[in-house]
Amino acid sequence: MLWAYAQRLTSFRFLYILFVASSSVEHGSARITSTFIRSEWPSIDVPLDNEVFKVPKGYNAPQQVHIIQGDYDGKAVIISWVTTDEPGSSKVQYGTSQKKYDFSADGTMTNYTFYKYKSGYIHHCLVDGLQHYMQTGGQTVLFVGDLSYADRYKYNDVGIRWDSWSRFIEQSAAYQPWIWSAGNHEIEYMPNMGEVFPFKSYLHRFATPHLASGSSNPLWYSVRRASAHIIVLSSYSPYVKSTPQWKWLREELKKVDREKTPWLIVLMHAPIYSSNVAHYMEGESMRAVFESWFVRSRVDLIFAGHVHAYERSYRISNIHYNVSSGERYPIPDKSAPVYITVGDGGNQEGLAGRFYDPQPEYSAFREASYGHSTLEIMNRTHAFYHWNRNNDGRKVATDSVVFRNQYWASNLRRRRLKKIL
Ligand SMILES: [Fe+2]
Repeated sequence: MLWAYAQRLTSFRFLYILFVASSSVEHGSARITSTFIRSEWPSIDVPLDNEVFKVPKGYNAPQQVHIIQGDYDGKAVIISWVTTDEPGSSKVQYGTSQKKYDFSADGTMTNYTFYKYKSGYIHHCLVDGLQHYMQTGGQTVLFVGDLSYADRYKYNDVGIRWDSWSRFIEQSAAYQPWIWSAGNHEIEYMPNMGEVFPFKSYLHRFATPHLASGSSNPLWYSVRRASAHIIVLSSYSPYVKSTPQWKWLREELKKVDREKTPWLIVLMHAPIYSSNVAHYMEGESMRAVFESWFVRSRVDLIFAGHVHAYERSYRISNIHYNVSSGERYPIPDKSAPVYITVGDGGNQEGLAGRFYDPQPEYSAFREASYGHSTLEIMNRTHAFYHWNRNNDGRKVATDSVVFRNQYWASNLRRRRLKKIL
């Protein structure tokens, strides 16, 4: 029933599901606020009886199947699914071609309650020792948090919406790994229903390979996938100095080997640089703690969600500000990451249509409409990036940039980084 097979990875593409005039430069002062207007409303949930949520036929048929990379280096996957009639088996059979499953792996089963809702039997199975990636050729979805928005419902409907959303994404998430990061809608702190354990639904349903990267918590972890080292941070877990996440990130950045993984990408939920009125400054505390590390480590790209609009920054930093100093504005910095806010994948809350005016100098491009980003890593020096507007079923590449690698495309920065490490 469940299978995993693959072929050798030849190219590597990322697809960002969450998440405007064209631009082809990383540096510069041209600022664009797109004139494309899409109404913020209406934005309504898909009815539960819609075809996309349908329950598979058959007794105890597995549903809500999704996969994630299962280890640090991409030789394993974690396969997750739900059965509803009885626990059934947590075993996965797999092989090197379809219908020939010579191998098997044993997984684990869990379940939980939320108010009076009882979840199905949730299975997670690590399939290890793989030689190849999936049939998709390494395409991976990087998901920047806020998954189902089930927390906008009450009582038993919270769990029911988790189930329907997980069936909805199966058509993609069962066939290519989704790299999860948690958003505020995963917290589900709902004391009025007796639910006070943060991330309860998310942690039961979505496994991550956190132990493989030495993380003590599934909410933050990293994977090395093909030519990219991808670090996932939790905006809603402690990260100030001396906390587990702070200590983990400090060590993880030392482990980045640009010879093996030329590209360094960070995911978080609350954006550090965003000029949208919605959620303004919510990423400031993380900026104060981690921005200097991102610059020093030559992070290439930082993707965030949370704000229901699209925005891309120039390479800027604000690491000299120290409360007492007058250097309070972000300045151009060739060693800094590009910050991309791509929280415009769509949801019940609609778009965040208001940006601050005038557009800040650090903001290269912004538009409030639905869309997603794609990143094609071509080699160790160049990657093609697009933000694609999704307008009524059409994908329109609207913001396009060729990114140069922060390590390999600059001899000077490479020498400096070697000196630091
Ligand atoms: Fe959010």
